[in-house]
Amino acid sequence: MAKRPSTLPWNLREPSTGIPLYRWLYEELRSAILAGHLRSGARLPATRDLAAQYRLSRPTVVTAFEQLRAEGYVEGRVGSGTYVSKTLPDELLHAPRLTAGARVRQRQRRLSAYAHRLRLAQAGVRPEANGEGTRTPTSTQPHTGARAGTLAPTLTLAPTPKYRPARAFRANQPALDQFPTALWAQVAARRLRRVSTQLLAGGEALGYRPLREAVADYLNTSRGVKCAGDQVVIISGVQQALDRAAHLLLDPGDRVWMENPGYPGAAAAFRAVGAAISPVPVDSEGLNLEAGRKLPKPRLVYVTPAHQFPLGVTMSLRRRLALLEWAGKTGTIIFEDDYDSEYRYSGRPIPALQGLDRSQSVIFTGSFTDVLFPALRLGYMVLPPALVDIFAAAEAISTHHPPLIDQAILCDFIREGHFARHVRRMRELYAERLSVLLESARAKLPGLLEIPAVEAGLRTVGWLQGGISAEQAAQRATKRGVEVVPLRRYAHGCVRREGVVLGFAAVHGGELKRGVEELARALEDVLGRRAD
Ligand SMILES: Cc1ncc(COP(=O)(O)O)c(C=O)c1O
Repeated sequence: MAKRPSTLPWNLREPSTGIPLYRWLYEELRSAILAGHLRSGARLPATRDLAAQYRLSRPTVVTAFEQLRAEGYVEGRVGSGTYVSKTLPDELLHAPRLTAGARVRQRQRRLSAYAHRLRLAQAGVRPEANGEGTRTPTSTQPHTGARAGTLAPTLTLAPTPKYRPARAFRANQPALDQFPTALWAQVAARRLRRVSTQLLAGGEALGYRPLREAVADYLNTSRGVKCAGDQVVIISGVQQALDRAAHLLLDPGDRVWMENPGYPGAAAAFRAVGAAISPVPVDSEGLNLEAGRKLPKPRLVYVTPAHQFPLGVTMSLRRRLALLEWAGKTGTIIFEDDYDSEYRYSGRPIPALQGLDRSQSVIFTGSFTDVLFPALRLGYMVLPPALVDIFAAAEAISTHHPPLIDQAILCDFIREGHFARHVRRMRELYAERLSVLLESARAKLPGLLEIPAVEAGLRTVGWLQGGISAEQAAQRATKRGVEVVPLRRYAHGCVRREGVVLGFAAVHGGELKRGVEELARALEDVLGRRAD
């Protein structure tokens, strides 16, 4: 094997002022690759060595490498060797050669600061922890144990993988094979046969009015939300709500509290607009407000109170009231993500934060992704009245509104009672699957994995016992055809316990049983109790 170079075989130019150091390093390395100074397959120096050579912080070098990797210039992982890609991005190979100056100008023109931050978020880099633009990492993560410059949970922006029947324990899917497609087709066909010219002409930026009313009715009766149809905005899923809220409510440098562990897609949307994430621990009552209060004051708090993502904890009423009181006093916005909370199996449903809010601090959002099907890309926001106009303005200058015919079909599906029936049927099915999982786990996983009481949702955490590492567990499980996600992948800082996330909703009973048996074998492999 070629000996790893500890330094670059030439000197990098001095960084110019005003350019973040990781950006400078990234551009120098990229130019070297394009100019052929670093040939395909060449191994880059270790990040530690490069950092020492140029007196940079290691996270700065890691960030530059991650950027090169995200764009296809290098391959391999930081830590296990980084090599110049065998095939460089096509467009570059076929592009006419530019002078070095023109190349720099073109690169500088090409992307906004937002786009650049988005790239970093996509690559899973925490800009607030990487000492961007300075030689010393400025850790803005006040919680204990966060490592400056470590990689954040990666946001899956890649195309969705090809659909296959769900293996145990696929976590990000409802039971798509149970969706009543024939019924949906009937409702859609009827709507299309009778479509009015009014509907074809398009509609309001806030969404199809009858759907906004239907969603308001549903939320008032089922989710303890208090709203009129006027406050409801139809959007393309919770992810769009996060993106909108981030753009309209946050400025670069604003702080956002994120539940730790928590939903990576939210952190990525906030980071992309330049906000700094403060991870706040989650305990048995949800986001730990007392721990949060020791941190600098945020502009926005992101929470999943109905069942915390990914731990599944329901935020207690006491905590909800305390959070609302604090938000009202401090003028903080609460972003309440109610994602897939339709599925509650036990425990008393607690009204949404929005329904308890007296100070208009809460933005409530939910989605049809897991309740109906992901391709629909429809969801809703319930906004404090004072924010409705600005969200409408943002919609008007972008998509104008999500596809109106789909909104009308969904509205019919809800109004005709199919939605409520589907949710009821799925709740029963998911409850059955959950009990298969829990029973099999009780029989096969004692001493290896403990699943806490699961009150709601389509997935659960499993706590690993006996010092088993989640990464090793996931690797061994993959070899046995079982999918588990290490909890740390959702961490925004330190997560003390070793756990894995297990999905059960999309997985048939027999497959769940097989999955538990294989997982038990995988965990025993990790403990060295079984021969490979
Ligand atoms: C907690 C949470 N919020 C939001 C989303 C994104 O939802 P949508 O598909 O509606 O954009 C997800 C998707 O996995 C999620 O898990």
